[in-house]
Amino acid sequence: MCGIVGYVGPKNATPILLDGLARLEYRGYDSAGIAVVSAAGDLEVRKAAGKLQNLRTALAVAEPAGQVGIGHTRWATHGRPSDGNAHPHVDCGGDVTVVHNGIIENYAELRDELIATGHHFASETDTEVLAHLIEDALASGAPSLAEATRRSLRRVTGSYAIVAVSKRDPGHIVGARLNGPLIVGLGEGENFIASDIPAILRHTREVVVLDEGEVADVTSTAVTLTDLDGREFTRAPMHVEWDLEAAEKGGYPHYFVKEIHEQPHAVRRALLGRVSEGASGPSLRLAELDRLVASGALDGVRRIAILGCGTSVHAGMLGKYAIERWARIPVEVSIASEYRYADPIVGPDTLCVAITQSGETADTLAATRLARELGAPVIAVTNIVGSAITRVADAVLYLQAGPEISVTATKTFVTTTTTLYLLALWLGQRNGALAEAEARAALAALVAVPGQMERVLATTAAASATFDTMASLLAKSQSCMFIGRGAGFPLALEGALKLKEISYVHAEAYPAGELKHGPIALLDADVPLVAMAPASKTYEKVISNVQEVRARDAKVIAIATEGDTNIARHADATLSIPRMPELLAPLLGIIPLQLLSYEVALRRGCNIDQPRNLAKSVTVE
Ligand code: F6R
Repeated sequence: MCGIVGYVGPKNATPILLDGLARLEYRGYDSAGIAVVSAAGDLEVRKAAGKLQNLRTALAVAEPAGQVGIGHTRWATHGRPSDGNAHPHVDCGGDVTVVHNGIIENYAELRDELIATGHHFASETDTEVLAHLIEDALASGAPSLAEATRRSLRRVTGSYAIVAVSKRDPGHIVGARLNGPLIVGLGEGENFIASDIPAILRHTREVVVLDEGEVADVTSTAVTLTDLDGREFTRAPMHVEWDLEAAEKGGYPHYFVKEIHEQPHAVRRALLGRVSEGASGPSLRLAELDRLVASGALDGVRRIAILGCGTSVHAGMLGKYAIERWARIPVEVSIASEYRYADPIVGPDTLCVAITQSGETADTLAATRLARELGAPVIAVTNIVGSAITRVADAVLYLQAGPEISVTATKTFVTTTTTLYLLALWLGQRNGALAEAEARAALAALVAVPGQMERVLATTAAASATFDTMASLLAKSQSCMFIGRGAGFPLALEGALKLKEISYVHAEAYPAGELKHGPIALLDADVPLVAMAPASKTYEKVISNVQEVRARDAKVIAIATEGDTNIARHADATLSIPRMPELLAPLLGIIPLQLLSYEVALRRGCNIDQPRNLAKSVTVE
């Protein structure tokens, strides 16, 4: 989500850092900064909120020069976008500076402990604790910046890619990784460090990729790799063949497919800091809602209104099923553009959950403002820190999905759904509607989702012959239909939306039971049907609906559960997902549907990342 770049060598670091940051601009910005150790041995830090241009303007006044430096582009997770919260962050003495991508989960405890021992904090970020921990480690005798960094990281839980420099150990850049990408670029008499290959591709194509829990101590002529306990190892560099554009897309031809593959990581991040493993199983904490709880605003809540548009509504529909099942609170899901003109019945007994990944959708903002004016407490669910919806809301649950660059939503769909499921479990635990054992089982199943998503990504690719046939069938169709029941219905809606958005094939989704009330008249041999048929309490009913369709000669593609030996008798082609509780199956089922729409769009030569007529945030009514 954020971007990191570092340089050590004979050249002036500043232009190299700025160029690297510019190459990371596609990842999104809310602030940027650099730190350079000057020839005089001073640590000079410059940072600015907003686009990189703001930092360039600040540097134009007095540009620091030096041969060692680090830079960062921030995409906020903790602390609003501002000059003070921009990275790099420094320790009390201005000796050590750190940049960081990720989330330090135990930062609040560490911060309290550091403040109690006399440290002063200048920002609201989780990152700053790292600078102070390294300061402490150096003060208590760590012989090098690398060792001080290792000692500090052994105290930290969460996910990170971090890079540190210190004027007390000049000539060294130390980087470490745990669940956040970090690479070392090898040059001639100079070396680089970065979160992403594009940042350094102009300078070198020889790259060492760090693995989880690894630390790199980088000088202009050497790279020393260790684990967090200081045990050394070596790793051969890899040669990067990609051009810059391909590198920005991580080697994928389009952001859309890159972001489909990022979904397991995005869901892990959505769970991070909220679900923790304990001796008796996983437990849930939504600290973001503490203040809302303390205000008493939730005490009178008897029902919930979920508001959103497009994909956010589909995730909201899944959220409704989860809240009603786990918290037994009635939920109404409304399309925001309808809600605001519908004279809604809303007041302090209605909790409004406003979903907008961009945080800027005009209709969702207006509908949410209306609910708030009528007295409803508001929880916003968004991916963008500081976006407009966060200013309308009483509390915010961030998706933590990282930037989504393709116009069409993928990872924000799965992270919204995951976040709403966490909210449902939290509400159920709070009002006592959900038994402890069921809550733990549901959390354990959610924690297993990213691993299962990885399996779906691998097996869908392996099923390429079937996949090819299905994609070709849909690509030459004028129209097709998606059906599902229960949690399968929002999945069908989302699958149909992906297909029409990026391939321009007309696709409609219906609750499977509704077919015979009208839409079945559309079906014939030229209109394929995509049926959501994972294991569920309505599985047999969906199969009956599929049989009705087959009797009209329509071809059937099914999304089913692995090991379902029955489905082959009813479907012309099947894409399988691992067995999951019914509510969670859409988190897996969406992946083959996204990949299918991608393949169809490729065959039809469509503009996949920027489909015609669509925009990433719809700021007009
Ligand atoms: C679909 C898509 C749109 C958005 C909708 C709401 O791929 O991206 O349907 O879901 O415009 O956007 P947000 O969530 O930003 O309010």
